[in-house]
Amino acid sequence: MIDEDGYFGERVAEQYDQSSSPLFQNDVIESTVSVLTELANGGRALELGVGTGRIALPLARRGVPVHGIELSRAMVARMRAKPGGDAVAVSIGDFATTTVDTKADGAFSLAYLVYNTIMNLTSQKAQVACFRNVAEHLEPGGCFVVEVMVPELRKLPAGQNIVPFHTSPTRWAYSVYDVTTQAMTCHYIEVSDEGRGEHREVPFRYVWPAELDLMARLAGLRLRDRWEGWTRKPFAEDSAQHVSVWEKPIS
Ligand SMILES: C[S@@+](CC[C@H](N)C(=O)[O-])C[C@H]1O[C@@H](n2cnc3c(N)ncnc32)[C@H](O)[C@@H]1O
Repeated sequence: MIDEDGYFGERVAEQYDQSSSPLFQNDVIESTVSVLTELANGGRALELGVGTGRIALPLARRGVPVHGIELSRAMVARMRAKPGGDAVAVSIGDFATTTVDTKADGAFSLAYLVYNTIMNLTSQKAQVACFRNVAEHLEPGGCFVVEVMVPELRKLPAGQNIVPFHTSPTRWAYSVYDVTTQAMTCHYIEVSDEGRGEHREVPFRYVWPAELDLMARLAGLRLRDRWEGWTRKPFAEDSAQHVSVWEKPIS
């Protein structure tokens, strides 16, 4: 299933924007883009894992110049096919290591990594490298925003390492956890009319809020805000996800 486009090759890309996830609803996209527009503060934005432009294109429509880094040419082709799809410049590569030349247009006031995509980096080393890479692209005072789930280990009773997260007559999905490495592999099984199943799996590395704060510190960034979501509700004990904002100090 994995090719040069990573885990988001043509078959995933062609269905990506038909997702039933609430993250594809207009009101969620609008509130995401409103927060990001404010944080960009009149400057340029860098999206890591820009995908089909779910967020980058409406952000660009608000007047924020956006540059994307993306591994999958198939996902970028879907963005290019949308109205205004050329508005976002893209560098093809791994967002943990790919650099964007900032000499001509200046450093970024905002970098963002949404929809759990930090977890697509499957080692702590790569996640740390990502923070360092972002910090090098930010101007002093600039922000890095991450939207990611809180690891669901409370759903794991002792001796169990699997959490199902979707069951319907035609689709089953579950995560397998390795609590020693923080590896989490998601398995998706589509059941056809003939009763046959097609299986796909994607590796992730789950990561804790406090661990992200440490990665940020290693990169010279400091925590500015942590919310439960884009409505800026405070992050709390029972929050299932967080939107965290770290900033690059001015001096
Ligand atoms: C869940 S999608 C999110 C896409 C988009 N940010 C959004 O919110 O709709 C994750 C995207 O990140 C890309 N991606 C995953 N790992 C990557 C990496 N190491 N470097 C660059 N892109 C990566 C995938 O190809 C995919 O397009």
